Amino acid sequence: MNKTAELMAQKACEVMQNAYAPYSKFHVGACVEAEDGTLFVGCNVENAAYGPTNCAERSAIFSMISAGKKRIKSIAVVGPGTELCTPCGVCRQVIREFASPDTPIYLCNSQTKSVVKTVTLDSLLPLSFGPENLEANK
Ligand code: THU
Repeated sequence: MNKTAELMAQKACEVMQNAYAPYSKFHVGACVEAEDGTLFVGCNVENAAYGPTNCAERSAIFSMISAGKKRIKSIAVVGPGTELCTPCGVCRQVIREFASPDTPIYLCNSQTKSVVKTVTLDSLLPLSFGPENLEANK
């Protein structure tokens, strides 16, 4: 058992309770581990205009960036019910900016508050486009 991953699952479950999701009623929590081991949490924040909604993963990542950290070592995500909540397409691309192909993404269960499945970023976003593609064209 990966102790950090389990702690991250618990933290994601905690912050999930702070989700502002009056429209979907779908509460999501995330916890990002920065390269130095610092943990950052985030929840989804919805909006009456729908479009400005921010997912839990991006809330956590933006918090990490705001604290001056640039690399994601791992990330945990939890949604309601038993169906695993995987990051949406936009969040996969945002994770891509600050992570590596083999970065683990822990998919968690809110009832057991534990990791159910671990996938890599590359498995969720193969053949991805990132900062290196822009560098290669300079
Ligand atoms: N949501 C997340 O926060 N993360 C995901 O990985 C999937 C979806 C949020 C966005 C919206 O507030 C609600 O879940 C329903 O889509």
